[in-house]
Amino acid sequence: RPRVVSGVQPSADSLHLGNYVGAVRNWVDMQNDNECVFFVADLHAVTTDQDPATLAQRTRVTAAQYIAAGIDPERSTLLVQSHVPEHAQLAWALNCITGFGEASRMTQFKDKSAKQGAENATVGLFAYPVLMAADILIYQAHQVPVGEDQRQHLELTRNLAQRFNARYGDTFVVPEAKILAESAKVYDLQNPTAKMSKSAAAENGLLRLLDPAKKNAKKIKSAVTDDGTEIRFDREAKPGISNLLTIHSALTGRPVDEIVAEYEGRMYGHLKVGLAEVVTETLEPIRSRALELLDDPAELDRMLARGAEKGRELSVATLAAVYDRMGFLSRA
Ligand code: TYM
Repeated sequence: RPRVVSGVQPSADSLHLGNYVGAVRNWVDMQNDNECVFFVADLHAVTTDQDPATLAQRTRVTAAQYIAAGIDPERSTLLVQSHVPEHAQLAWALNCITGFGEASRMTQFKDKSAKQGAENATVGLFAYPVLMAADILIYQAHQVPVGEDQRQHLELTRNLAQRFNARYGDTFVVPEAKILAESAKVYDLQNPTAKMSKSAAAENGLLRLLDPAKKNAKKIKSAVTDDGTEIRFDREAKPGISNLLTIHSALTGRPVDEIVAEYEGRMYGHLKVGLAEVVTETLEPIRSRALELLDDPAELDRMLARGAEKGRELSVATLAAVYDRMGFLSRA
C-alpha cells in the first residue's frame, strides 16, 4: 500500500483551523487506502525558542488532537518525531547533499529569519526543510498531505531524493505533495490576505480547535468582510468573504457555488452565523474528545510509545541503506 507521511509542529496550545483544514482533516480519509505515518514534529518546534515543560505538554496535546480528529493509532502509525532517532540521523546525511544556496532560497526561512533578525535565527531554522525531507524520505513516502505553504519544502524534498538516488543509487521513493486546491490555504479572519497562523498579529484572526465554541463563534462574527454586500467568491475583490466561503466548503464538503447559491440575496451576517454553526459542529466533538484523551496522559504516552516502535520498524532499513551507500563502515 502507498505510504503517506505528514506532521504538525507542537508549537502552540492548540492546532488552529488552518492546520485542520489544510492538513489533518485530509489525513483522516487517507487512512483507508494508504499506510500512514503521522507524527508530532517536536524537533521542528525547537527551531524557534520553546519552553521545555510547555513543549512536552504541547506534544501530547497535539497527538490528542490528531486522534480526536480521526487519526486511528491502530490503523496508522502515530508517533513523536524525537522518539524515532532515524529522522535526525537521516537529516544529517541530507544536510550534506543540500546546497547552502538552495537552503537559503526557502521562502519560509527567509520570512522567519527576517522576523527574528538574521543574527537570532539559528542553524536549526536554516536546516529545518532538510529535516522535513528526512521525515518524509525515511519512511519512503509516496504522498505528503500538507497545506500550500509547504509546497516549496516538498520540492526540496523531491530534489534531495533524486539527487541522493543519482549519486548513490536508487534509495528513496520520490514523494509527491498532496495539496488540495480549495482548502490549501485558510486565511486570517482579521487579515484575509495573510494565512491563518499561530503567530497571527491579531488574536481574533485565529480559530483554535481547543477553544470553546462560543469564543470561535464570536471571532467568526467579527471577521473582517469586504466592501459591498453581495456574497460571492472572488479572492481579489472579496478576500474576507471568499475565506469564509472556503472554510464553509471545506468543513461541509459542499462546493463553494452551492453555498453561494444558498446565501443569494442575504447579508454577510447570515453567512457568518451559518459558518459559526458549521465550525461549532465540526470542532466541538474534536475538542471534547481531545480533552477526554488528555485526562489520561499515561495512556496517550503508551500509544505514542507503540507508535515509536512501529516507526522504528519502518525506518531502520532505509537508514541502514543510506549509511551503507554513503560508505560509513558498518559496525562489526
Ligand atoms: P506547520 O506545523 O506549520 O503546519 C502544519 C500543517 O498545517 C498546514 N497549514 C495550513 N494549511 C492551510 N491554511 C493555513 N493557514 C495553514 N497553516 C498551516 C501546513 O501546510 C502543514 O501541512 N514543516 C511542517 C511540519 C512538518 C512536516 C514534515 C509536514 C515537519 N516535517 C513532514 C509534512 C511532512 C510545518 O511546520 O507545518
